[in-house]
Amino acid sequence: MLKVSSVSAAYGPIRALHDVSLEVGEGQIVTLLGANGAGKSSTLRVISGVIRPTSGSVEFLGQRIHHRSPEKIVSLGISHVPEGRELFTELTVAENLSLGAYTRRDRDGIRQDLDRAYQYFPLLAQRREQHAGSLSGGEQQMLAIARGLMSRPRLLLLDEPSLGLAPLVVKEIFKIIDTINREEKVTILLVEQNASMALSIAAYAYVLETGRIVLADTGSALKDNETVRRSYLGY
Ligand SMILES: Nc1ncnc2c1ncn2[C@@H]1O[C@H](COP(=O)(O)OP(=O)(O)O)[C@@H](O)[C@H]1O
Ligand SMILES: [Mg+2]
Repeated sequence: MLKVSSVSAAYGPIRALHDVSLEVGEGQIVTLLGANGAGKSSTLRVISGVIRPTSGSVEFLGQRIHHRSPEKIVSLGISHVPEGRELFTELTVAENLSLGAYTRRDRDGIRQDLDRAYQYFPLLAQRREQHAGSLSGGEQQMLAIARGLMSRPRLLLLDEPSLGLAPLVVKEIFKIIDTINREEKVTILLVEQNASMALSIAAYAYVLETGRIVLADTGSALKDNETVRRSYLGY
């Protein structure tokens, strides 16, 4: 479904990605692991069109998308839930969700998807008129994911959904990610520092180190990999 081929990217003089290649098959959950500054967010930004690669290509469903605008990429079926959530904190839960559908014109479909979002996230339904900024960290992450789903994506890019959340909340978020994948048939590229949670739901995983892919294998094989255990799982 998604094919990133030999992508390099930079911020001015700072090179963030070197020759990164990865693939995500339709229906899969694939995870991209790595320490702070490894280039995980930059990889997602290239895919969603926020930054342009200096070389290499990105193909989605057979189309080259790396010169498309972020809006066009959303309308092709890719939704990016950014690191730090980036909600409109002064707006309500309902308003944030509506903004997630900004590329769509099918009002009936949008209303149906809004109802479905509230079914998936009952906590958000109870708080629909509350300002997003007044939600707890976990609720804000749920809102960010729910907003990402409002464009009805086929591929969801999730950037560190567990960041700053308590272990029980992290567990709940991962359960929801798994459910969305299975029930809504949304393919997921999940960026995480929490390797053990990510590897527990991912079919395939890549490890980034200073902008380069250094390991790639099935989730279960990487869980048993000596280097991954020592560097990312901590045992
Ligand atoms: N907006 C930016 N401007 C300049 N450098 C950046 C910017 N964002 C990221 N970088 C740099 O690019 C590299 C990769 O960062 P990033 O993709 O955010 O890593 P990760 O998400 O894995 O923590 C780092 O060296 C980081 O300092
Ligand atoms: Mg990041």
